[in-house]
Amino acid sequence: MRLGTRVAIVGAGPAGLALANVLQQAGIDCVVVERQSRAYVEARARAGVLEHRTVEFLNDHGLADRLLAEGARHGSCEFRHLGERFSVRYRDLTGGREHHVYPQQFLVRDLISAYLAGGGQLFFSHPAVALDGLDGDRPVLRCQPDGDAEPLELECDFVAGCDGFYGASRQAVPAGRLRAYEKQHEFGWLALLAETPPAGDEIIYALHEDGFAGHMLRTPSVTRFYLQCPVGDHPENWPDQRIWSALHRRLGMTDAELAPGPITEKNVLDMRSFVVEPMQYGRLFLAGDAAHIITPAGGKGMNLALADAEELATRLLAHYRGAGTHALDGYSAACLPRIWQAQEFSHWMLHLLHSPAAGQDDSAFLHRLQLSRLTQLRDSPAYSTMFSDSYVGSSGRPTAH
Ligand code: APR
Repeated sequence: MRLGTRVAIVGAGPAGLALANVLQQAGIDCVVVERQSRAYVEARARAGVLEHRTVEFLNDHGLADRLLAEGARHGSCEFRHLGERFSVRYRDLTGGREHHVYPQQFLVRDLISAYLAGGGQLFFSHPAVALDGLDGDRPVLRCQPDGDAEPLELECDFVAGCDGFYGASRQAVPAGRLRAYEKQHEFGWLALLAETPPAGDEIIYALHEDGFAGHMLRTPSVTRFYLQCPVGDHPENWPDQRIWSALHRRLGMTDAELAPGPITEKNVLDMRSFVVEPMQYGRLFLAGDAAHIITPAGGKGMNLALADAEELATRLLAHYRGAGTHALDGYSAACLPRIWQAQEFSHWMLHLLHSPAAGQDDSAFLHRLQLSRLTQLRDSPAYSTMFSDSYVGSSGRPTAH
């Protein structure tokens, strides 16, 4: 089957779906293709923290009703070390900016239903396998569905590559046209989802000689936890009993404070940071994880993906309203400062939280630096205000062209 559209969007994650909704609302024809089934993407648990500006963007487009009704609002987080605890009240320190906690898969579900309710075209189980003619006037996106289904060809004005780190879009750019900046971190995170109510209503970051432990909020009955582990560790090395005892020890909690429950997900994360520059080539624009990967420290990934979507949507709208191609030319340059600021913050936070690998010559020195950062965060209003501003994210939104 061959179809024509204005914007072909590869990937139905937060970036691709937000872009599709905004374009649809503006009457700009678009088509979304997604490798996985609808059931799969609506059940895939990943991030869950939405910044103030992200919620504002979604709300401006009528896409935040459910998250505002069901998501929890948070304005402080807690740090723990050697039995000492303190909170940073980032809502108070930033004039009222706060987080909404709402699991990514719920947002994906909301964005899919809004887009389909508006008559949007979305092909699930249609992996993009080739993007041709990106440097011409009418690129063609080719999808090869599983089984006997007919291949799909989408002829379009522009391709939005929102297909994550392992997607086809970035791979379609000729060698040498994009530059990748990459950092592989020297520790892993065991990422867990447990059917356990959170132990309190704050995100908790615990520094411990065994390694970092994180207590993240998702829903009243589901909690995400992270445990620092060595690079290359395997989930099989972490039976449930070992997990709960590590969580209790590192977080300084008893069984009564944090009740063990069924662990429904257990992965060792590849702790990698990655940015590609520029985020565009010819008529292809990369957004979200297709262009950059950030560690979960600081909860920035989904917010960056949605900020890219907003930036790209704003510029596509300007283009179709007659502003010319210069609106699109500036896409990458407009996104990258925000992305690097988030990368810098996430990197700083990783080094605040992680126990330096034992045996490293400089581990005792690095640990002293960590403690100094923690003390400043507790005692210095200027330091904690700066932390809060980065943590909860800026309030800057793209301007119309
Ligand atoms: N063709 C079509 N779809 C594809 C292809 C392909 N070749 N390859 C990947 N996809 C789909 C994936 O199945 C996924 O649904 O693209 C989508 C990309 O979505 P995400 O990975 O969620 O990426 P993004 O929208 O950029 O959102 C980033 O996701 O990884 C988390 O923590 C990260 O919160 C951040 C957010």
